[in-house]
Amino acid sequence: MPDGGSAHASDVAVRFEAVTRRFPGSGADQIALDRVDLTIARGDIFGVIGHSGAGKSTLIRMINALEVPTEGVVHVDGVDLASLPAAQLRSARKRTAMIFQQFQLLETITVLENVALPLRLDGVGRREAHARAVEALEFVGLGERTTAYPGQLSGGQKQRVGIARAIVRNPAVLLCDEATSALDPSTTQQTIDLLRRVNHEYGTTIFVVTHEMDVIKDLCHSVAVMSEGRVVEQGSVMDVFLQPRTPIAQAFVSTVIPQELPERVRRAVGGHPLWRLRFLDDEVTTPIVGTLISEFGLQVNILHADMTDIQDRTVGHMIIQVEGSPRQQEEAFAHLAERVVGLEEVVL
Ligand SMILES: Nc1ncnc2c1ncn2[C@@H]1O[C@H](COP(=O)(O)OP(=O)(O)O)[C@@H](O)[C@H]1O
Ligand SMILES: [Mg+2]
Repeated sequence: MPDGGSAHASDVAVRFEAVTRRFPGSGADQIALDRVDLTIARGDIFGVIGHSGAGKSTLIRMINALEVPTEGVVHVDGVDLASLPAAQLRSARKRTAMIFQQFQLLETITVLENVALPLRLDGVGRREAHARAVEALEFVGLGERTTAYPGQLSGGQKQRVGIARAIVRNPAVLLCDEATSALDPSTTQQTIDLLRRVNHEYGTTIFVVTHEMDVIKDLCHSVAVMSEGRVVEQGSVMDVFLQPRTPIAQAFVSTVIPQELPERVRRAVGGHPLWRLRFLDDEVTTPIVGTLISEFGLQVNILHADMTDIQDRTVGHMIIQVEGSPRQQEEAFAHLAERVVGLEEVVL
């Protein structure tokens, strides 16, 4: 999606404009980012999905100026970071905070001291820093563990300390680089719930990079798909799940919602047409197949069906094979097209 240019700067938390990053290699340069354009709205939870090496970490590190573009511009809060002198860059960096896959806690100081550290480095007095750290730890549900050392905590608890440390300075943008990739599924879910609460209660813009489509589904509102340094597709999470356009987006969506028939089934079905249906919310409970049979006289064979919750909505996906006269099929197809969000003939 192009920038559009209509959004007011104040609605935009982060904007990448034609950002390229090259790393000199032994032979040709390694192109980690290739003319990336992205606009992240204030208050959004924006996810970037891609395989390892796609350029995600390079991208996210540009938002706190740990990485700089070879070409192009990164605006954070309307400010081009590369244009700032060192002192201003330091204060601009405080508008962002980051959480990491490996938590990055200091092992020799307590949980409370870890969370208070960013404030102490800012020159905030010990008392106030500790009071605010306690508040942040209470927010993440670790108010009882202030005197523990990181080594005494589980992985999920360590990540919650990481989140407390990140939010203690009230950042405008919270950056998450594979923040759940080292966690088991139930801890991942708790971490996702917590990040959603941060977004909801503090209005913090959250920028997530991950290789897990489940994280995009459960956490994000918007998503960009990256491949080999390029953004190949982007949109609302719902749109990309309902109608992934590129093969790579389809592959990521299919890790959550199976899109294709198993090979054995593909080989066995032949002759009659296959239709792919996608439903949303109430459509899920409409007796669509029954109607095709009773009203249109078709024979219907359900080859695949599932439902998935995407945030607070339900998405249904079905592949059916229909048998009937061309006219019956045509009428039924037109009828269906008005009642489901997505309908297409599957070509095997
Ligand atoms: N400091 C660096 N020096 C050289 N190459 C790098 C550096 N950082 C990243 N790269 C290369 O850039 C590409 C993208 O890396 P990265 O942003 O870490 O991807 P991801 O986080 O999606 O796995 C990779 O090919 C990686 O090897
Ligand atoms: Mg990475």
